[in-house]
Amino acid sequence: MEKAEFGKYFTNIFQDGFIMLSIGIGHDLGLFKVMCEAKEPISSEEVAKKLDLKESNTSFDKKWGFSPALFAMGMRSKAVKEAFKKDGPYGISYHDEHASEFLHWLNSYRALMCDETVDKKIIPLLDQQGVVSRLKSGIKVLDLGCGAGNHVTAMAQRFPKSTFIGLDYSEAGIKHGNKHKQEKGLTNVTFTQGDAHNLPDEWAESFDYVFVYDVLHDLPNPHKALGQIYKVLKKDGFFSLIELGFHSNPVDNADDKGAALYYAASTFICLQSSMSGEPHIGYGACWGRESIEKALLDANFKINGKSSLIEIDEEAFFLCTK
Ligand SMILES: C[S@@+](CC[C@H](N)C(=O)[O-])C[C@H]1O[C@@H](n2cnc3c(N)ncnc32)[C@H](O)[C@@H]1O
Repeated sequence: MEKAEFGKYFTNIFQDGFIMLSIGIGHDLGLFKVMCEAKEPISSEEVAKKLDLKESNTSFDKKWGFSPALFAMGMRSKAVKEAFKKDGPYGISYHDEHASEFLHWLNSYRALMCDETVDKKIIPLLDQQGVVSRLKSGIKVLDLGCGAGNHVTAMAQRFPKSTFIGLDYSEAGIKHGNKHKQEKGLTNVTFTQGDAHNLPDEWAESFDYVFVYDVLHDLPNPHKALGQIYKVLKKDGFFSLIELGFHSNPVDNADDKGAALYYAASTFICLQSSMSGEPHIGYGACWGRESIEKALLDANFKINGKSSLIEIDEEAFFLCTK
């Protein structure tokens, strides 16, 4: 790339970062909420008055929920820089004090998107493979790395005859999960703190369906976790995996601004988590669909035909059996 061209490219990144930060401020101040609630166009003066703020001139996409993540990432800057140092820690785990801000954001982001993701994207894909009829009749399900429990509680609501377990490493995640469970009055879901690398032996071959959403690339050893999923899945069980769908070779992502964003975000969150424990494999968010597919096959899973590998926006969906 020529110097001038690189200058333009870099300026673009610089500008986008600042725009994103300002969107985050608007989100946190409640500007979008006021604009969404307004029945007709509303002036910046009126918005400011409603929120008891000084007037500012802003206009944003009202459904945007990603921007406050920048703050959560910004708060980690110091710790991330330490982790880069040779004598610093390997990474930052989701147990760490710096993780709770990100989980808090993830919970609010998922809360915004969860029902649509489950109803319009996940359930139709599961239906194609016969999982929905089993969920309706009543089966045992594990959400591995459930985070704040948004997806598992949404599924538990929709399939009351099935029983669900949400497992996560993070205490903050489990607390959020139990809160969602209480708010929705659910009795068919339980949350437990645990490590995806070491699932209890008494769980062997006990789950009909295991789902893992946006977790595997965060783990210090995803290959070991795949072995554990294999262990706990019944012989006729299903395993669905949602991961980011970028390419494994960074060169193949070179023109993709979405991938650039995730490489950046991963530096603050996913890569930190995946480096935080032994053996520090460190795939991070852009592990990539080609390598993930290979890891699934190496773990002895069958990927149910080409049609089961379907992109959800930037995400890849894999439905597997033993
Ligand atoms: C990006 S979040 C995704 C959470 C949730 N599946 C969702 O989509 O909202 C990744 C989750 O993996 C969890 N996690 C990281 N390492 C783990 C481990 N060793 N065992 C279990 N969970 C882990 C984190 O605590 C975090 O909640």
